[in-house]
Amino acid sequence: MATPIDLHDVAERELEQRSRYPWRIKACASTACQSAGAGSAIAAMESEVADAGLGTDVLVVSTGCMGLCSRGPLVRVLRRGGDETMYHSVDAEVGVEIVRSHTGRGVAVDEHALDTGLPFFARQHRIVLANAGIIDPDRLESAVAHGAYRWLAKAITTMTPDEVVEEIKASGLRGRGGAGYPTGTKWALLAGADGEQKYVIANGDEGDPGAYMDRTVMEDDPHRVLEGLALAGYATGATTGYIYVRAEYPKAIERLERAIRAARRNRLLGRKVLDTDFTFEVNVRIGAGAFVCGEETALIASIEGKRGNPRLRPPYPTEHGLFGMPSMIDNVETLANVPAIIANGSEWFAGIGTSRSTGTKVFALAGDLVNTGLIEVPMGISLREIVEDMGGGVPGGKGFKAAQTGGPSGGCIPAEFLDTPVDYESLRELGSIMGSGGLIVMDEDTSMPEVARFFMEFCMDESCGKCVPCRAGTVQLHRLLDRICQGRARPDDLALLSELCGVVRETSLCGLGQSAPNPVISTLHHFRSEYESLVEEPADA
Ligand SMILES: Cc1cc2nc3c(=O)[nH]c(=O)nc-3n(C[C@H](O)[C@H](O)[C@H](O)COP(=O)(O)O)c2cc1C
Ligand code: SF4
Repeated sequence: MATPIDLHDVAERELEQRSRYPWRIKACASTACQSAGAGSAIAAMESEVADAGLGTDVLVVSTGCMGLCSRGPLVRVLRRGGDETMYHSVDAEVGVEIVRSHTGRGVAVDEHALDTGLPFFARQHRIVLANAGIIDPDRLESAVAHGAYRWLAKAITTMTPDEVVEEIKASGLRGRGGAGYPTGTKWALLAGADGEQKYVIANGDEGDPGAYMDRTVMEDDPHRVLEGLALAGYATGATTGYIYVRAEYPKAIERLERAIRAARRNRLLGRKVLDTDFTFEVNVRIGAGAFVCGEETALIASIEGKRGNPRLRPPYPTEHGLFGMPSMIDNVETLANVPAIIANGSEWFAGIGTSRSTGTKVFALAGDLVNTGLIEVPMGISLREIVEDMGGGVPGGKGFKAAQTGGPSGGCIPAEFLDTPVDYESLRELGSIMGSGGLIVMDEDTSMPEVARFFMEFCMDESCGKCVPCRAGTVQLHRLLDRICQGRARPDDLALLSELCGVVRETSLCGLGQSAPNPVISTLHHFRSEYESLVEEPADA
């Protein structure tokens, strides 16, 4: 058996090595920037460094997401012991200019410099994304230099499993996958369950349209996810973990698999982790990209090699889960919070956010906003701060109409509620949900019935068809919404729409059907006049 890694020693060497370079260029190579041309910009910067003989002065590192995806490709230039500059829209030409001017002559390329004092950056509180855009996700040493696995080592050598569970409970951490269930309570249930084998599963299915929070965490800091999962295993007595990732996330899959191999080689995973009695194996399972497979019982079926259909609960997975054994499913972002809680303590975590929604939340900001991308903000921040300050407001002088949170299971929040704090309870009171973190802003030109129709079409397509209310109900709801949007509906169709929403919500078997009516219910509630203006008067009126 190989000797376990000396975390302290590796971190020291890594820090010493990088301090040899007067300049470091960190280039975002995550999916969003890659699609904007980051690959050629990075290649151009690397060859310019070589051609200009700057190889001993400038280190070019491919990193992860820096957040402001709409202005990508993004690059940060760091001077040893000094300042740092962020650049936007860095194509190959700008990349060469940055190498020549900034690292060659110490003169910044002002036209592409970004003000990192902008609320988009300044208002963030990065815990889950702390290393995104900082480390090289493909190198274990880079993650270790930023603290990876130190907290797993601390837990398995100085804490009992019960103490870890209690710490997570005390932190107030709630599931980031949608429902907001208290994570510590779930861990305690699995810890107390009897079974010769227990499993912990990271849910990286992320099926909401437009959402890419979990993909970013898995791509940009895979060791954080592995460490969180291993801590869950230690706390609950599970010796095997699975990470369920959709096939549309090939980079996340590749990075996780590489990270698992590196962690195993260094005895951070596998048998007798760091020479302790703790054993923990991790497997990646690839899903085919069905939204319903994010639902925990469908996900379990999918890992077992069966069709990804949900089943009734109870029994809950903590009693009867994967392969019939006690199991627990935690969202990727939920798990990515865990190392920081062990590092800084539950009190620290509970001090961020609000009393009932502690910590931070990562959102994928999209839609009609000046700044779109990924943000991590303290819970309790107002929607207004997100939309107007961080997002820069609606472009083109247009008015704000609504913010959609929670994807196909969520709702639309109108302008009069912009001062609502973003926490689980407040969003629910407005008829929406926190969801997994999709946040789409819509301007005054948006038709809300069309928004409702879009999400209903999504649910109709993604319904697994197992139960009638969802299989047939989503089709009927979509038909009605289509009729309304085309101006062919009658006034009494609105009552029918509401009634059918109630039936589908109350009688569907799983969360997909139960929540599919939410966007309709919330838009009917907040924007009823729009629906009314679209329905025809009866012919005999
Ligand atoms: C239709 C449907 C899709 C879901 N998709 C996801 C998903 O992509 N990722 C996720 O973490 N949870 C998803 N969930 C919620 C999971 O069933 C489960 O509650 C969650 O993974 C638990 O983790 P958490 O407690 O950390 O949030 C989905 C639920 C439903 C009903
Ligand atoms: S509610 Fe929809 S997705 Fe869930 S089991 Fe029924 S048909 Fe399948």
